Amino acid sequence: MALVTFSSPDYKDKTVYAVAGSHTETLLKLAKEHKIPVHHDCQDGECGNCLVRVTSVDKKTQRMGYHLTDKEQTVLRHLGKLTKDDIDRMAVDDMPSEWRLACQMIVRDEDILVEY
Ligand code: FES
Repeated sequence: MALVTFSSPDYKDKTVYAVAGSHTETLLKLAKEHKIPVHHDCQDGECGNCLVRVTSVDKKTQRMGYHLTDKEQTVLRHLGKLTKDDIDRMAVDDMPSEWRLACQMIVRDEDILVEY
């Protein structure tokens, strides 16, 4: 079980449990299940509307590395959130990106803070 805390300047923070490891539970799906108003449109990693910032809850714990698909990398670069150097560095060091598309991010077994 992972604890996922959704935080927005416009809404009260909400922490929910996520069943991790299903490989199908995206962050956006989890948000929708709990009626958390994360913006979205295409739900297919194309529009960038579901951009979120993901960090560890205590800002100290090392987060798990994530593989970004080419599609997600392209959108995040287009939005100015990642550079080619950032992407190369994350791949070499097996580091996660702070910026993610909620519709593309699979929830894993780690407690995270999601700013939307
Ligand atoms: Fe369009 Fe996620 S909803 S990229």
